[in-house]
Amino acid sequence: MKTATQNLEEDHIQILRLIKVMERITQLENPDEVHLELIIKVIREFADGQHHAKEEQMLFPLLVEKGFSNESGPVTVMLHDHEQGRLFVKGMVENMLLMKTGDLCAFQDIYTNMLGYTELLKSHIAKENNVLFRMADQVLTNTEQERLQLEFAVVENETKTGRSKDDYIAMVDDLTGIYLP
Ligand SMILES: [Fe+2]
Ligand SMILES: [Fe+2]
Repeated sequence: MKTATQNLEEDHIQILRLIKVMERITQLENPDEVHLELIIKVIREFADGQHHAKEEQMLFPLLVEKGFSNESGPVTVMLHDHEQGRLFVKGMVENMLLMKTGDLCAFQDIYTNMLGYTELLKSHIAKENNVLFRMADQVLTNTEQERLQLEFAVVENETKTGRSKDDYIAMVDDLTGIYLP
C-alpha cells in the first residue's frame, strides 16, 4: 500500500503539470477565457480544496501531535505558503471578473498572479517533497501513514463540488493536451 506522503507527491505531479500549462498560457496574447477559468477552478477545487486540505487538516496536525512546532519551522512555512497562494488565486479571480466586464487589460493582471502562483508553488512543492515529507516519513508509523491515506481517500471522493480527484486529473489531462501537445 502506498504511503500518505506518496499520495501527496502524486498530487504534486498533477499540480506541476497544471503549472506548466499556466506558464505556456501566459505567453499568449489572446488567452482563452474558458481555459483560464478551468485552470482557476482546478487550483481552487483540487490544489487548494483537496490537496492543501489534506495537508492542513490531516497531515500537519498529526505532525504537530508528533512534536513538530506549529509556531515556527517547516509546518509553519508551508502554511504561510498556502496563504500566499490563496492571495494569488484571489488576484486571478478578481481580474477574471474585471475581464468579463470588458476590461481587456485585466488578463495581464491574471497573468501576473498566475506567474506569482507558479513560482511560489514550484518552490513550495520542492520544499515539501525534499524536506517536510522526508521528515514526516521518519516520524510516522506505517499505521499512521495508512490511516492518513484512508482519510485522504474520503476527501478525494466526497468533495463538496461533486467531483473526485480523478475528475480533476482528467481536466489537467485535457489542458495539457491542448497547451503542451
Ligand atoms: Fe503544501
Ligand atoms: Fe503539497
